[in-house]
This record gives sequence, C-alpha cells and structure tokens, in this order.
Amino acid sequence: MMWQRVSCELERVDAPGAKGTLMLGDALSVDLSAYFGRVQCVYLDPPYFTGDRFTMRMRVGEDGWQSGRRTIELPAFNDFAGASLEDYLAFLREAIHLARKLLTDSGSFFLHVDWRASAHARLLCDAIFGEAQFRNEIIWSYQTGGRSMRYFSRKHDTILFYAKSKDHYFDITKVPASRKEQRSNHLKRHVDEHGRSYRSITTGGKTYIYYDDEPSYPDDVWTDLSQMQQKDPQRTGYVTQKPQALLDRIILCSTQPDDLVADFMCGSGTSLISAAVNGRQFLGVDSSRQAFSVCRKRLAETAVTCLAPFSQVPVMLDASAMPGIGFYDVQLNAYTLAGDAFDRYGKKGQPMRIAGLDAVDQWYAGLINNGVFVAYASAVRRKQTPALPTALSIPLLRGTLAISVMDVLGNRTLWTASGEV
Ligand SMILES: C[S@@+](CC[C@H](N)C(=O)[O-])C[C@H]1O[C@@H](n2cnc3c(N)ncnc32)[C@H](O)[C@@H]1O
Repeated sequence: MMWQRVSCELERVDAPGAKGTLMLGDALSVDLSAYFGRVQCVYLDPPYFTGDRFTMRMRVGEDGWQSGRRTIELPAFNDFAGASLEDYLAFLREAIHLARKLLTDSGSFFLHVDWRASAHARLLCDAIFGEAQFRNEIIWSYQTGGRSMRYFSRKHDTILFYAKSKDHYFDITKVPASRKEQRSNHLKRHVDEHGRSYRSITTGGKTYIYYDDEPSYPDDVWTDLSQMQQKDPQRTGYVTQKPQALLDRIILCSTQPDDLVADFMCGSGTSLISAAVNGRQFLGVDSSRQAFSVCRKRLAETAVTCLAPFSQVPVMLDASAMPGIGFYDVQLNAYTLAGDAFDRYGKKGQPMRIAGLDAVDQWYAGLINNGVFVAYASAVRRKQTPALPTALSIPLLRGTLAISVMDVLGNRTLWTASGEV
C-alpha cells in the first residue's frame, strides 16, 4: 500500500469531557480575536528573561522511555538570549494587553514570573489592568535547585494576580489547603466541650479560634506546593514545566465548570491538563514545536482541536489498513527519516542514528472529512507504556482513512493511502 503525504487545516479528537484548542504559533501574531471577552482565567508563564536557549531532553525508543538513558537534546525555546531588557518588556507589555483583551469582565489574570521581571511586570500590569485591579502578589516558594553562598538563595517565583474588573469571580472555598501547613504550632491547643480540638491566640485584646476540623485556605505565600521532582510521574521532559497542583489552585478558585481557561505560552500544557481534568474548556498556544508535541501527547485522550501546520520534511512511511466488520485495522510498519536527520542532536555533538519506529514518538489513526482529520485512536510513548503500539483500530465511517505521525524531532506529518483528502 502506497501512502502519500497530505495536509489539512485541523486535527480533532472527539472525546467526552472538557473541550479545548491547541495551537502552534506565535501568540502575539496568531489571530485570537474569536476569543476576546470569552476567557475566565488567563494564566501566563512567559519566558523570564534568563538569556538562556532552553533545550529539552527527548527520550527515544522503548529503551529510552524505559531507562531514560537514550535521549536527544532538542531546542525548546529561546528566552531572549542576546536581547535587551527593552525588547523583553515590549514583548511582555504586548502579552499582558492580549491577556486583558481575552478576559470576560469577571475574569482573572495570573502572570507567573521570577525575580528578574517581577518589578517590571507589576508596573506593566498596573498600567494595563489599572492599580485598582491588583489582587495579589503570590509568592510560590520551593526548595529545589542550587544554593548561593554570596546572597540569600532565590527560592520563589512571583505570580501576579489581577482582575479584569471589580466584579471578578473568585471562590477561595474551592481551594482548601492542607491544615498541617496552615496551622502554626505556636498557637495554644484546646479541646472544647464537644471534643473538637482547636487552637487559639489572643492579640490586641481579641482572641482568635481555629478549629482543626474547619477548612483553611491559602494566603498569598504558597509553601505547600512543591516544584517538579526529578522522578515525578507528571514530568514530561519539557524544561520549565510547572506542577499541576499549582495550576489546579489557580484555575479552581478563579473559574467555574465549563469556563474557558487560556494559556498562550503553554509550554508542556500543564494549565490545559489542569483545566481539562477540572471540567474547564481550554485554549493553549505555544510557538515551540517541542511544546506542541508534548501537549499533543498529554491531550491524546482529551477532546481537542489542533491547529498546527503539517511538516514538509523528507520522510517515508510504510503502513497497511484492513477493513473489518465495522472497523479498520491500521498497522504502522516503518517510518524513515533522512540518514543525517539526527546528526545535530546527539550528546556532545556526536552524530546519532535512530532507525525505524524508534523515531516515532506518537501516532494517530483516523478519518479526514471536509478538511478535518479526526483522530479516533492514538499510540503514544510514555514512561508507563514505553513500547509504541503499532496497530490501531478505528471505526469504519465515511471519510478518507489517514495516519498522523509525530516523530521525536517534533515533525508532524499526515498520510493517506490514496493521496486524497
Ligand atoms: C516558561 S515556559 C511555559 C511552561 C509551562 N507553564 C509549563 O508548565 O510547561 C514559556 C513558554 O512560552 C513559549 N513562548 C515564548 N514566546 C512565545 C510566543 N510569542 N508565543 C507563544 N509561545 C511563546 C515558549 O515556547 C515556552 O514554551
């Protein structure tokens, strides 16, 4: 069976639950006007002006996913290397303007930065949202990373929280915090006449009582959410990935089920996953091909519409498809990139050879109808499932049978047996 490269505008996964859109592109150039005034929460974790060119370590093949030892180093994103602070602030200003345009009148904006940009970001947000709309400067404190002996170690990020208007939605009761963290041991401990334990403190002539079985809520210093650990099962390999618990807290207090959450520099897609898991709709955009690839995989079983150009790299594919009763059995046999495709990505510049299906990170089988590829079945490599399934079944419905492949370099190609769309 001869498979030919084709292209189409949209790729879609139909699944129950929250729906979303994932785009590959420069958020400040793509047209997001259809979303203006519709987003309840914008979370933005932009580049921090570190001056680094970030790379990500991509696991390759079954053994790479099993042991973590077979990897290639890919460019993830450029964090303003060689650029001036003025360039960075012009970018941030534009991004904050876009966030404000996206929000509903009751919406909230969370801007995640670190010590490099937080003072500038606060002034920009004050100017764009208005000082009166400032709600919090959240300190997210963590213990990972190195220590300094020349100054106090920098162990927090800053998340600026602004509301679009005074009528913003916010429900702190949706994000109870663990009591162990919140209750201080220095408070006096008591048990009341009903056997309920509580702590009390008297200050300024007033006594404050905190029952241990009452919910408690986070304040603006978050010490109870740890950074991603090396062995964290959530870890995707995408540099700067944030933990889902952090996004859960932000999304749950600022949105209600079915509301739309947007993150237009979404990286590995943590905010999109948090939105989907919590029953919110989502819009994710990132300009990095690797980010798109990681997000696509994390959303493999989620209802999502993907907008990203299919790649034109030279590659060959061998596959077969057999119609059965009510379904097609689709088999991926071989995927061959040019021999030197990996030369730039080996450790310490060593040329690398990655052959056959080891070069495939994820693939999808489905049908094309009216220019839309609907993926009905997915095969993705994960730590839990390092071997790539090579056979998929999809329903025998109207449309042109097609296969989309995402390789370890982030190339995404679409194929049909007839060359027709
Ligand atoms: C700090 S990372 C986001 C990490 C993310 N919060 C996560 O949990 O994985 C910043 C992201 O912004 C993206 N980015 C930078 N400039 C962009 C732009 N103009 N449009 C879209 N994405 C952009 C980068 O590709 C990078 O993935």
